[in-house]
Amino acid sequence: MEQQFISTLSTTASELKSGSVSAKSPSNIALVKYWGKKKNQIPTNSSISYTLTNSYTETELKFSPKTSDTFEVEVYLEGELKESFAPKIITFFERITAYIPFLNQFKFEVHTHNSFPHSSGIASSASGMSAMALCLVQIENILGANLSEEDSLKKASFLARLGSGSACRSVYKGLVEWGENDFIEGSSDLFGTKYPDVEIHDVFKTFHDTILLIHEGQKSVSSTVGHNLMNGHPYAERRFVEANENLKALLPILKSGDIKAFGELVEHEALTLHAMMMMSNPAFILMKPNTVAALEKLWEFRRETGNHLYFTLDAGANVHLLYPEQDAEAIEVFIENELKKFCQNGNYIKDKVNF
Ligand code: PMV
Repeated sequence: MEQQFISTLSTTASELKSGSVSAKSPSNIALVKYWGKKKNQIPTNSSISYTLTNSYTETELKFSPKTSDTFEVEVYLEGELKESFAPKIITFFERITAYIPFLNQFKFEVHTHNSFPHSSGIASSASGMSAMALCLVQIENILGANLSEEDSLKKASFLARLGSGSACRSVYKGLVEWGENDFIEGSSDLFGTKYPDVEIHDVFKTFHDTILLIHEGQKSVSSTVGHNLMNGHPYAERRFVEANENLKALLPILKSGDIKAFGELVEHEALTLHAMMMMSNPAFILMKPNTVAALEKLWEFRRETGNHLYFTLDAGANVHLLYPEQDAEAIEVFIENELKKFCQNGNYIKDKVNF
């Protein structure tokens, strides 16, 4: 299957010119979570995420020919040279060199910018790796690969996955699925697949994602370490089965527009992810006291008002508030009056799904 992504380019360094490409890619928030992986970034279960709108990475990739046989890359974040970022890109290049043959023929300069603050605790790896992969496929096309738009996106998703698993879902808008299963046509472990818009009730296309920045700064455990702790985890196999069952159960809910069932499933997924972390060895807790306080307040608000306000969590302390446009007005007053105080500097990010 991977064979299809091996480049047919035969360009040699002497024919290469300098140039620059750029791409913008949003972050995503998973509804059914990817947690656990096998060799070569193959997920242990299927996942699905909303692609966001306002939280994105913009990357310009400058390239100029060189003769040495090594990888050469400099990374600038918000205009500042970040020497510590280069090894991550070099590791990414090593993983994808079989599919992008020109990586050692150019010297690269990566100029990257995130729309969200670096310290916000929002992972930039999904949007960052996806933007980087989109840039590389553009260069491949400039050099003569001439991939169709569909194949270009598929290849970018395939490459992004090798940079950061969840990044493969950021290549497409809407709801994006990743992981092979027998109930979504075209699903694959190798790349993300856009879940058809026609299968999604309109109400789910109006969802807001307001991100409470409960704890700004580095997470105490990286997602790489977290994924690895699923190896030998006593509850791992059951979790992988349940994640696939949850995704399968979500599909008719998406179709029918049952917001309550959607919210309950999504909250269960988020808490299960954190429960897996708490049950791993060594154990870790990424929620902060204010994460729990915000969730309790949210549940109380939902009980009292019946508004459709639900949450999900990624591998960190921040809370993603999910709600449809129809309830947005009341919910946003509640966020400002009752939830903002749980944010570290009173900061939250207003984002939306991207259809
Ligand atoms: O893509 P990674 O390796 O950073 O893992 C992301 C894992 C979660 O965000 C917790 C879940 C997901 O599916 O995005």
